[in-house]
Amino acid sequence: MRYQGREVDVEGRVRLVMESALTARDRVGVQDFVLLENYNSEAAFIENLRRRFRENLIYTYIGSVLVSVNPYKELEIYSKQQMERYRGVSFYEISPHVYAISDNTYRAMKTERKDQCILISGESGAGKTEASKKILLYYAVTCPTNDRMETLGNRLLQSNPVLEAFGNAKTLRNDNSSRFGKYMDIQFDFKGAPIGGHILNYLLEKSRVVHQNHGERNFHIFYQLLDGADDDLLSTLNLERNPQSYRYLVKGNCPRVSSISDKNNWKVVTKALDVIGFSTEEVQELLDIIASVLHLGNTLFGEGEEGETYITTETQLSWLAKLLRVDGSALKEALTHKKLTAKGEEMISPLSFEQAVSARDALAKAVYGRTFNWLVEKINRSLAIKQDEIYHSGKGSSVIGLLDIYGFEVLQHNSFEQFCINYCNEKLQQLFIELTLRSEQEEYETEGIAWEPVQYFDNKIICDLIEEKHKGIISILDEECLRPGETCDASFLEKLEDTVGGHPHFVTHKLANGKTRRVMSREEFRLLHYAGEVNYNVSGFLDKNNDLLNRNLKEVMCQSDNQILSCCFRREEVIDQKRPEMAASQFKNSLMRLMEILRSKEPSYVRCIKPNDAKQPGRFDEVLVRHQVKYLGLMENLRVRRAGFAYRRRFEAFLQRYKPLCPETWPSWQGKLVDGVSTLVNHLGYKAEEFKLGRSKIFIRFPKTLFTTEDALEAKKPEIALILQKSWRGYREWAKYQRIRHAVIVIQSGWRGMKARRRANRRRHAAELIRRFIKGFIYRQEEYCPENEYFLDHVRCSFLKKLSKNLPRSVLDKSWPTAPPSVVEASEHLQTLHMRNMVIKYCRRVQPEWKKQMMQKVVASELFKDQKELYPQTVGRLFLDSRLEREQISLKVLQTLGSEKVQYGVNVVKYDRRGFKPRARQLLLLNTFAVLVDRTKIKQRIDYSTLRGISVSSHRDGMVVLHVPCEDSKQKGDAVLHCSHVIELVTKLSMLASKTNYVNISPGSIRFAITRSKEGIIDFIRGSELKVAKGKRGHLLVTTPQIAAT
Ligand SMILES: Nc1ncnc2c1ncn2[C@@H]1O[C@H](COP(=O)(O)OP(=O)(O)O)[C@@H](O)[C@H]1O
Ligand SMILES: [Mg+2]
Repeated sequence: MRYQGREVDVEGRVRLVMESALTARDRVGVQDFVLLENYNSEAAFIENLRRRFRENLIYTYIGSVLVSVNPYKELEIYSKQQMERYRGVSFYEISPHVYAISDNTYRAMKTERKDQCILISGESGAGKTEASKKILLYYAVTCPTNDRMETLGNRLLQSNPVLEAFGNAKTLRNDNSSRFGKYMDIQFDFKGAPIGGHILNYLLEKSRVVHQNHGERNFHIFYQLLDGADDDLLSTLNLERNPQSYRYLVKGNCPRVSSISDKNNWKVVTKALDVIGFSTEEVQELLDIIASVLHLGNTLFGEGEEGETYITTETQLSWLAKLLRVDGSALKEALTHKKLTAKGEEMISPLSFEQAVSARDALAKAVYGRTFNWLVEKINRSLAIKQDEIYHSGKGSSVIGLLDIYGFEVLQHNSFEQFCINYCNEKLQQLFIELTLRSEQEEYETEGIAWEPVQYFDNKIICDLIEEKHKGIISILDEECLRPGETCDASFLEKLEDTVGGHPHFVTHKLANGKTRRVMSREEFRLLHYAGEVNYNVSGFLDKNNDLLNRNLKEVMCQSDNQILSCCFRREEVIDQKRPEMAASQFKNSLMRLMEILRSKEPSYVRCIKPNDAKQPGRFDEVLVRHQVKYLGLMENLRVRRAGFAYRRRFEAFLQRYKPLCPETWPSWQGKLVDGVSTLVNHLGYKAEEFKLGRSKIFIRFPKTLFTTEDALEAKKPEIALILQKSWRGYREWAKYQRIRHAVIVIQSGWRGMKARRRANRRRHAAELIRRFIKGFIYRQEEYCPENEYFLDHVRCSFLKKLSKNLPRSVLDKSWPTAPPSVVEASEHLQTLHMRNMVIKYCRRVQPEWKKQMMQKVVASELFKDQKELYPQTVGRLFLDSRLEREQISLKVLQTLGSEKVQYGVNVVKYDRRGFKPRARQLLLLNTFAVLVDRTKIKQRIDYSTLRGISVSSHRDGMVVLHVPCEDSKQKGDAVLHCSHVIELVTKLSMLASKTNYVNISPGSIRFAITRSKEGIIDFIRGSELKVAKGKRGHLLVTTPQIAAT
């Protein structure tokens, strides 16, 4: 957000408060005129206003008075955030603003419980009404509320558009000029919430209803109705849309204003009427009255041959009667005749043409004016505090009054209205002087400082000239109105000359000197107001003061069925013969009451200044501004304020701000405030005549002193900033550390909690398991039952798991885990299954080669296992297809064998049956027979069919005997052989010959046939190594080795 050309954010607020009002002087003038060095110079004053205005700084203080220059453009300084900035902040700590005044007043009201008022003054178009609306909005937004108060706040806000529609008009000076004075009370309860409101209105400029100056308009409501109402509504009121059709609206020749949207405003107003609580009937009656005024304006008269006056617009008249809800013929009569009472007798006399016209206009003004008063009363009823709230708030309620009254007005042609308005401003000025001087004096007194009298212009003399009893202008006017005989405006002027002619503030054409005479007409008198000279034209003064309405018109209006009108025109008024109070006296008395109201309250001031007459933004017309500065008495105000001391500040505020400039007071002063301040100023070297210490404030005589101090502070600021930065950063880091630490603790405790809960759960679960386990163990012998199911399941499960890890891997592995009793059966099944499975798998894997090998090995096993000592050594060795290569067998032998295929061949040693001479031979096995070959010659053929047996010893030797039949001469007897591969040989042979049953393994000697009748014997003895030799008894003695020697 930009404010005063600098960035403002959340911290910015702090910054701005720190830098405060005084430093801004370096950039754009001074924020408080009191700090102007040359306070007597009007030029310096205006220059300061101009410089600030150029930067859109429209607000400046004179002490506690706010000077506001109309910017004529929307500024971004009225947002809700801005309101928040000013809330509860000390007046001088922050740049000047109408919100500061509002807030200050509100706080004073709340803390001191004293009624307050804010007086807004300035000339027409200077921004008074806008200021009052801003203040009202500030309260509506920032004050505490409840539901009822919210509607009240709404009504307070919504009363504005309604009153503006009926009471404001476009004038040459202001497109939305208030043509009535307004004083509004807002009541607050002890908590500071708004609970009620009340409006006093002053002197509506009724003449505008029937006449407008060129370029001006009638009251907004007429144009809003014509532009905004729908066709139906207009036809029920018999109105046309074009404002130019109505004589009361054409005088100023200005039906449209570019800055105003009548259509939109119409919507706003009708909505506001609803919010305030107008019923549909009331709104209808109100619009009937507005329409009737327009019809009244179009009611025209003609003059008959005998000088009698008649109405020429009969239809207009009938609509008029309908809208006013009165009798048509009575109205017609009353508009053209007057009723007189002479010597107790009532007489009716016709009106002249002019009289009829003015009677008509008088009726229009009276109807409009009284309706306006009724409207204010109606709004007041809707804003009134409810009975129960009075009870609740008790005496605790306080009031803030808001006065937005017409400003001093000087027109080309000034009449009765301007006279009243300017008189009102005189009174307010008087009050202003009285109150500001008084408060200044009071402050000096409470602070115990000697009061030094100030020279100022007291405008009491002008007030007296106007209002003094018997001798004042108002009295003379009243007298002239009441005096019997011929009276006119001119006679009033003469009377004035006679009575107040010598007054220094009064001049007429006759009394004036040559120079003045030239600028005055003969019908004018001039008043030298405090704000300047104004010439008033007396024409119309008497009539306007009389404000007379014919009696018979009043009588007709009393009969009206329109509820609003019957409230406005009371029957008593007709019966009561007493003359009503004259307008000027009425106004004077209401002003007196207003002054009393204001005097009883603590005032604050907003002085509005209009920068140019063209309603243009950015234009600063120096002449115009100088004039206003003068008549608003701003210079005087400043002089009073500066008379003694330029600057004052409460001790704590002063000390708070400047304490960094003195080592004793920095960073904080512990003793009494006054001592702190005096220590500080001593350190700063203030001279005795430069300042005074009051009871709670320091008063500094010259701005220069303060500026020097301020400059010193400015120079010191980087240092302070550094300290602040340091401690702020330290604090920030510390806070960050604390936050992190806290977070860590939270996370840790969360995590630990979770872990502990998990552990506890696990333990609980484990304990439960153990318990079940033990119980199961106890019941393990029982049938499967709830007590032991877990245990048994567990046992089974763990057995199966164990089993799965320890399954035998090969068919030969016969190990198997021992099964617990409950799974024995299953275990056995499993074992069988597993074994089968392994076998199947194994078998699937076996190759034909291997199968053959296996079959042979199986046969070998069946033959030799546990029978022959040599066997175990041979288990691990594979059987070969043949121990002889094909080349090792003689070709001749092979030829001899012909187609028979050699299945197996091996070298053997053949022992002769008789001498046991060893001979190397080859043994070849064929499909049906075997042959013993001596190199190229087949020595012996043994048909398998004839093979009687095969004998081997049970020892470790390689001896083998093939038993053949001896009957056959061809046979050479049993073959005694020694073979290094005896197991292999015997196995193959027995398989080829299908004579496995014929294998004989003898543990002792082996007998063999040498011839049919003769037997040989082979004996076996144990020795160190294999030896085959002829034994002593003619046996073959084989020494079999202890250790394998195959
Ligand atoms: N603070 C402001 N910001 C913007 N425009 C303003 C401000 N004050 C006044 N104006 C303009 O000036 C016009 C006249 O102001 P207004 O308050 O009606 O004058 P006054 O009541 O003093 O006759 C307003 O309609 C508005 O356009
Ligand atoms: Mg106004």
